[in-house]
Amino acid sequence: MRTIVVANQKGGCAKTTTVVNLAAALAEIGKKILVIDLDPQANATQWLSGDGSKGGAYGLMIEEGPIDNFIGNTSIENVKIICATQELSYLERALAGRVASDSILSRRISCLKEDDWDFVLIDTPPTLGIVTLNALSCANELLIPVTTHILTLSGVAQLMSTVEAVKKLLNPGIQILGFLPSRVDQRTRHSGEVLDLLMEEFGDLVLKTTVRESVRIAESPSFQAPILKYDGASGAAADYRSLAREVLGFSVEEGHRQ
Ligand SMILES: Nc1ncnc2c1ncn2[C@@H]1O[C@H](COP(=O)(O)OP(=O)(O)O)[C@@H](O)[C@H]1O
Ligand SMILES: [Mg+2]
Repeated sequence: MRTIVVANQKGGCAKTTTVVNLAAALAEIGKKILVIDLDPQANATQWLSGDGSKGGAYGLMIEEGPIDNFIGNTSIENVKIICATQELSYLERALAGRVASDSILSRRISCLKEDDWDFVLIDTPPTLGIVTLNALSCANELLIPVTTHILTLSGVAQLMSTVEAVKKLLNPGIQILGFLPSRVDQRTRHSGEVLDLLMEEFGDLVLKTTVRESVRIAESPSFQAPILKYDGASGAAADYRSLAREVLGFSVEEGHRQ
């Protein structure tokens, strides 16, 4: 079982899009996925039609019941979810003063049966608060989406220093799986420049897969379908299939950097 947290405290940098579509692409090749939605905005939960009747991530973080009680179905075979609810926005306050409040999720996930899951994918809110710290503390790997349609890497340095602190104090085992350039638009100079900047700063940590700017992706949440279902033949669907292969360690074409 691999636990991957998708984080970047910058809002709108394709975290949720990455979680939903990577989950769908891994599920398509038969992997069993548990998505944990830790963002009170619940975008991943809605996109995947998550069944929240069993409670959600707030309950998971607060209550004593077994983790299996919180796992609901999605619209995709092989993908289950622990849903986000708005209550999650009170979590910081609810956990204030609790001992070891940054490692709750880690203790909870350790109760999952290893054989039941190939991947746990965690979606995070656009903050570096206690919720994201919990996710960073329990994950084996960190996937960092970076959108290239805006000429900025702002926030990445802050994220990296948080990751260093987490490594030192909470979770020495966490590895950076990679940076995923997203919303790449070959027609603009911006995109190329941001890609170059990323390569300069982070070299091999930049994944070979890039995800293109695609109106089909922007449309797909309204249809509660990942791009692989909404338009499985699209270039964007191919990008997420490439990402799944790369995550599994198969070689992908450089340029799946288009
Ligand atoms: N490859 C893409 N092409 C076009 N729009 C995208 C793409 N990836 C993400 N988006 C859009 O960008 C916005 C932010 O993405 P989202 O995944 O919600 O970011 P985050 O979870 O980091 O806040 C959404 O409106 C989404 O539809
Ligand atoms: Mg999101």
